[in-house]
Amino acid sequence: MGNTMKSIYDCYTLNNGVKIPCVAYGTYKAADGNSAEIIRMAIEAGYRYFDTASFYGTESYLAEAIRESGVKREEFFIASKVWKDEMGYEETKQAFERTLHNLQTDYLDLYLIHWPLPSVDYKEWRQLDLDTWRAMEELYEAGKIRAIGLSNFLPHHMENILEKGRVRPAVDQLEFHPGYIQKEAVEYCRKQDILVQAWSPIGRARVLQEPLILELAGKYQVSPAQICLRFVLQEGVIPLPKSSSMERMKQNQDIFSFELSKEDMARLESMPQTGWSGEHPDRERVRF
Ligand code: A2P
Repeated sequence: MGNTMKSIYDCYTLNNGVKIPCVAYGTYKAADGNSAEIIRMAIEAGYRYFDTASFYGTESYLAEAIRESGVKREEFFIASKVWKDEMGYEETKQAFERTLHNLQTDYLDLYLIHWPLPSVDYKEWRQLDLDTWRAMEELYEAGKIRAIGLSNFLPHHMENILEKGRVRPAVDQLEFHPGYIQKEAVEYCRKQDILVQAWSPIGRARVLQEPLILELAGKYQVSPAQICLRFVLQEGVIPLPKSSSMERMKQNQDIFSFELSKEDMARLESMPQTGWSGEHPDRERVRF
């Protein structure tokens, strides 16, 4: 799995045969007010797989950065997502058109349902997910999206799509980092041949201060962030790191020259729970 990857340009093969790079750049909150500049820097740093969403407000900045880079559209892998208030059959088709317009492109490489529920008290989420999925299936079959998938779906949410949908989701994007590995959901995805992607792979400041992460950073002579990203890679999960500095953008790609031992992977898998965002699809954000 991740161990065989040699650079950010090496790819996994999704369950529909489409190739997907093993590391992406996450554009969420890509520097307030300065996003096009930051994304342009990320392209210069070498990233070609960009993860955006209508909710992030970064689609048009990504389009601007790509246009100015002079790099061809086909060299990029672009993923976006349908937001909570865009769900439903007609709504999703319209949301997709807006996303294409914002991105100044005529196809997406990957399109995801951002969250399984529009709000925690929304009882009819199963039907809403299926209606949203049906629109995505049609766009996929029409050749406008190369792969379709999910984000923040737990096994009980995925089951609904797997049982009643026609196209198997290619990916599920989850919060995933040392300290929060969502084992149930990840194992479910593996069994179902759904590739997992990690949002917040560095898990914020607290993870980077964890004694185990610091110990391993010393042992392997890399930064705490590189330990987190290498862990994600070796789990066969695609990390979507975001950073606003060229130095860290490059550092976050430099995760192929060392390998975490089996024992260290096991220690990272069972380290104390930390760095959780407080987000869970079935309840209001937990603040602590
Ligand atoms: P910065 O933009 O200053 O680099 P996550 O994606 O896990 O939520 O983490 C995002 C945060 O991690 C950003 O605030 C980013 O800050 C920081 N970050 C990204 N790469 C690194 C790195 N290599 N070392 C330390 N912090 C990093």
